[in-house]
This record gives sequence, structure tokens and C-alpha cells, in this order.
Amino acid sequence: RFFFDNDADLAIMNGKTLAVIGYGNQGRSQALNLADNGFKVIIGGQSDATLEQAVADGFAVMNVTEAVKQADAVFVLIPDEIMPRVYDEQIAPFMLAEQMIIFASGYNVYYGFIVPDPALDVVLLAPRMIGKGVRDRFVSGQGYPALISVQQDGSGQAWPRLLSLAKGIGATKMGALASSFEEETILDLFNEQAMCGIQLWAFRMAFDVLISYGLSPSAILLELYASGEPEQIAAAYSELGIWDQLKLHSRTSQFGQLSRARLGAGPELKAHMTRVVDELRDGSFAREWACEQRVGFPGLHRLQTLVAEHESYRAEKRLYDIMKKNTEQ
Ligand code: NAI
Repeated sequence: RFFFDNDADLAIMNGKTLAVIGYGNQGRSQALNLADNGFKVIIGGQSDATLEQAVADGFAVMNVTEAVKQADAVFVLIPDEIMPRVYDEQIAPFMLAEQMIIFASGYNVYYGFIVPDPALDVVLLAPRMIGKGVRDRFVSGQGYPALISVQQDGSGQAWPRLLSLAKGIGATKMGALASSFEEETILDLFNEQAMCGIQLWAFRMAFDVLISYGLSPSAILLELYASGEPEQIAAAYSELGIWDQLKLHSRTSQFGQLSRARLGAGPELKAHMTRVVDELRDGSFAREWACEQRVGFPGLHRLQTLVAEHESYRAEKRLYDIMKKNTEQ
């Protein structure tokens, strides 16, 4: 079910101390939204430019452990790959029974890289929005969707407390959907690995095919994405729906998309999607990624090199240089 502003009571967590650990994409936006809603927010982190920003924004700033000790609820908003170590060393030893810990991603808890004490309230409050949007859409009053879940209810009050905080960051304005750590993790990674990512490789494959027919690299890239048209189309997906936005295209385009493109999304793509979900559910992707992190990301670096050495990457750099030069004039 969806939870809206009317289902949540800011007063439940008002007067409590909320520690936001990490002042990056999500941390800054969520902290500012909570503060605007009258919550007492402190920031825990390591000394770097983001922490200086927190000071400039007027927050009390301290190291992670100190913030955890002072807090009733702890938002863990640091990168997922760093989180387990920080959690084990600087957060977990200082958490008390019934204290609440809030994650914006299900990843570490779902895969068991973080195992919270059973006496804690452990909840998911995951905006389906980049950090900038979490702030901008709070300020504009537009809101944004979020997935929420209670994994552990040490206090017996985890749901009303979570809803209070969800409203505090602006996540119940458009509707916060009850989900689970598992569902959030699988969906988030599936979207990256089977949808967004596949588009990148489809662009590259299209480049290779069209180049082999003698078409110009710049014209190809402009047609595929460099014009900025795809972002207009993506905006229409969320405003009108994926099928109704077809009305914005010519009838020739509609017929082509409904007939030819349908054939491209065939059994191979379905097999890929199924494999992606299977590897997320059986933990093999998470194990591979944990191993990558331990040995210094050799696989990631190899793939980055593979991409950078391709002709489409060089053509993109040349095109963007020309386009940028033109806009600077
Ligand atoms: P980020 O990369 O912006 O986090 C940077 C912050 O973490 C900085 O303030 C940095 O000082 C701090 N940090 C890094 N290492 C640290 C350490 N060892 N000790 C203390 N602080 C440290 O993180 P982001 O992107 O905001 O992600 C935070 C959480 O939100 C993650 O769980 C992510 O999956 C989730 N999320 C992120 C979204 C996004 O738009 N980026 C969208 C939805 C959820």
C-alpha cells in the first residue's frame, strides 16, 4: 500500500535527535528537508568538503560515532560499498536497543554484509530519486516516490516512527510504497543491469552497425542520444506513460516502434533479464562485487578501459568538444 502525508505524523519524531551519517547526494538533501520540517538534525562524517558544506548549511557536525551516540535515529547515507566497514566499526558498537537505523538502500542488509542487532529498529526509506531531486522536489512541493519497509521492530513503534521520518524528508507527499529490503535491492540492481545498462550497450552496438554502413559518427551520435532528445522522451514516459507518449511521435515512428522494435526485444533479452534476476537472488552478483572491492576493482577498471578504447567513445569526445565550443562562443 501507499502511505501519504495524512498517514504520517511529524510529531512522533519531533524533538528527537536525528543523525545523518554522510552529507553527499542523499545526505544533504534529506538533512535539509528534515531541518525544514523542524527536526533536530546533526551530521556525522569524515572531514572532507561535504562536511564543510554541512557546516556552511548551519548543521552541528561531528565524527560518525559521536553523532550515533547523541542520536535517537541514525540515517546511514554513505556509499554502499563503504557502509559495512563504517557500520561495524563506528556505528554498531554504539547503538542502543530501540534506537532506529535508516537505510536508503536495501543492499547491505539484504545480502547480509550488515547484520544489525535484533533490538534495533531497522527500516528502509529509499527515495526513488537522485539526491538533487529529493531536495528540489521538496522545495517545489512536487514530491517524489519512495519505497519503505520495516525489517526489525525493536521498539514496537518502528512503523509510525518510519512514517514520521518519511514525511520529514518529503517522501509521503507523492506516496511512499510499502516494500521490503529484498524487493528494493532486486529492483534497483535489475534496473541498472537489465534496463539502463543495456541501453548503453545498445547505443554502442548501434554505432558499430551504422558505421559499417558508412554513416557519419557525429550524425549517428546526435541521432542516438547526443541531441538531448532521449531525455525529453524519458520525461514523457513518466508524465504520460510509455505507450501514451507514443502519440508525441509521428505515425511512421509509432508503426516502426510497435512493429520492428518489438522484434528486437525478443527471447535473448528475456533470457538476459531472467539471468540478471537469478544472479541477484542467488547472491552471485553481490559476491563478485564484494570480491572486486577487496582486490581493488580490476574488473571495473578493465571494463572502463574497454569502453574508452572503442571508436564510439572517441567520436563522442570529438562531437562534445565541438558542441561545447559552440555553446561557449
Ligand atoms: P554519496 O556518495 O553522495 O556519499 C558521500 C558522503 O559519504 C560524503 O559526505 C562522504 O564524506 C561520506 N563518506 C564517505 N566515506 C565515508 C566514511 N568512511 N566515513 C564517513 N563518511 C563517509 O552517497 P549517496 O549517493 O548519497 O548514497 C547514500 C545512500 O543512499 C546509499 O545507500 C545509496 O544506495 C542510497 N541512494 C542513493 C541515491 C542517489 O541518488 N545517489 C538514490 C537512492 C538511494
